[in-house]
Amino acid sequence: MSSSQTWKKVAWRSPSNIALIKYWGKYGRQLPRNPSISMTLKNCYTETEMEYRFGNVSNGPVLDFRFQGKHDEIFAARIMHYLDDISNEKPFLKNLEMKVSSSNSFPHSAGVASSASSMSAFVLCLLVAENEIMGIEKDEEDFLKEASSFSRLASGSAARSLYGGFVIWGESAFIPHSSSKYALPVTEVAPVFQTYRDAVMIVSSKKKTMASTRGHKLMEDHPFAQERYGQARVNLSRMIEILRNGDQMGFAELLEHEALTLHSLMMSSIPGYIEIKANTINIIDRIREYREKSGVPLAFTLDAGPNVHILYPEEDKEEVIYFIKHQLKDLCENKKWIDDEMGTGPERLI
Ligand code: DP6
Repeated sequence: MSSSQTWKKVAWRSPSNIALIKYWGKYGRQLPRNPSISMTLKNCYTETEMEYRFGNVSNGPVLDFRFQGKHDEIFAARIMHYLDDISNEKPFLKNLEMKVSSSNSFPHSAGVASSASSMSAFVLCLLVAENEIMGIEKDEEDFLKEASSFSRLASGSAARSLYGGFVIWGESAFIPHSSSKYALPVTEVAPVFQTYRDAVMIVSSKKKTMASTRGHKLMEDHPFAQERYGQARVNLSRMIEILRNGDQMGFAELLEHEALTLHSLMMSSIPGYIEIKANTINIIDRIREYREKSGVPLAFTLDAGPNVHILYPEEDKEEVIYFIKHQLKDLCENKKWIDDEMGTGPERLI
């Protein structure tokens, strides 16, 4: 173990991801009720820099946290709560001081889910610091598996941000070694899906009505919970098959079915609540109409909020962007949308 008391530095960029098959409902220590699959994004990411020093304190961890250059007490409290949760597995935290500075590539107010990118970026920094301090050497595969597992404990969807392309979190008989504890990349993917793109229509940048964590909790007594978990498993197997065989219209149908199911689960929770807005529906209507008329296999999905993600093949990029500019942009808040694509996963910066 290194006992040096000098400050050292590490930094990571970690991406956001959008779920195709949704994680909605959890139990125990952040274990998902059903497996999920996501696509990793490229342009929506968090960059986190951590300066750390070991051995000068005994009642740590001590954290100074800045988001977009400013102290952020709410985020800091969330991280302290997380560090407390993992303190048994990571006893080195007692002697750790950290100065953390984090920023998102996408506007904080864009309504794009940021816990996946921000928590995974933080965990990557923390694990590099631990390995450095404790003199641990790990190969890349084990390092990413541990990072995924510890990201999961911070936020479920963050477990999937550790890899590029399509990523599965949760057990499936079709993906060897898949696990509820960590995510793994889905490697058998038809060429057409390997360069898929995601255009995010910002319908509202306001905070969601209900935090995801509370939404997951409402699944515990949800009248359709068991039915949903069974259906999600079936949908996941179908999605794995579709990604393998390149069936783009099958993809569109299943993707949209999952998104609408997620929001109908929210509406039928007790109490029920609504996250979509009028323009979410207007955008969905136009996407379906356009697909019908043009034959372009673009399709929508939603995370827990009102913004619409449009997934489509790279070869249709020009046509889809033209469609967005002429038919969808005006339905977005301040005409705002994000042009994104499949990403390759986290990158170490320092
Ligand atoms: C609808 O990962 O944000 O985006 O584990 O409580 O942090 P916590 O929840 P979170 O839930 C994400 C829900 C979702 C679907 C998904 O990403 O699979």
